[in-house]
Amino acid sequence: MTTLHTPRLTLRPITPADLPEVVAYRNDPAVARFQAWPLPATLETVQGLVSDRPLGAPGWVQRAVTLGGGPLLGDVALNTHGPQAELGVTLATAAQGQGYAAEALRALIDHAFGPLGLHRLHASIDPRNAAVARLLTRLGFRHEGTAIQGYWHRGEWTDDASYALLAAEWTP
Ligand SMILES: CC(C)(COP(=O)(O)OP(=O)(O)OC[C@H]1O[C@@H](n2cnc3c(N)ncnc32)[C@H](O)[C@@H]1OP(=O)(O)O)[C@@H](O)C(=O)NCCC(=O)NCCS
Repeated sequence: MTTLHTPRLTLRPITPADLPEVVAYRNDPAVARFQAWPLPATLETVQGLVSDRPLGAPGWVQRAVTLGGGPLLGDVALNTHGPQAELGVTLATAAQGQGYAAEALRALIDHAFGPLGLHRLHASIDPRNAAVARLLTRLGFRHEGTAIQGYWHRGEWTDDASYALLAAEWTP
């Protein structure tokens, strides 16, 4: 099980005790708007986020983003497929706007391109999600294109923008 540390944050596995808070932020309409999880989130639908698999194991692996190992701020995730992985990030509304997402993702990216030896990271976003577009761009991700109405999301066709970063482009 991988735990990552930054100056302000500890990224650790999600535990059953975290799940009521995870349900609460996943049901916040502002947090859920551009995310694919089923609504309403319930303790049952988030149960699968509790896992002892290490980051880099195939498929989605989540980490709780906590303030120094204390309060839960949100979660980050890596969906690893061969030498590449997709990134995910979610913060509760009260934790946004303080640089925590960037700090957590920097640690995750360092881990992905360092110990895990991955070649490429990518993210798929709704271009209307300006906060995540700013975040990815600030981290050095390149906007590689947008599939127009390429994604069916909660009853409507939405655009799907791809962002990516190569290991060779990352400065730890
Ligand atoms: C995407 C998301 C994680 C971004 O969170 P965020 O808090 O805006 O991102 P950052 O950690 O990069 O914080 C940046 C903001 O904090 C501010 N900030 C304050 N203190 C800071 C610090 N010490 N360091 C860096 N930034 C700081 C910055 O000015 C910036 O504000 P701005 O974007 O208005 O310019 C958040 O909006 C979210 O969880 N959204 C809902 C879930 C979602 O849609 N996820 C993406 C799905 S693909």
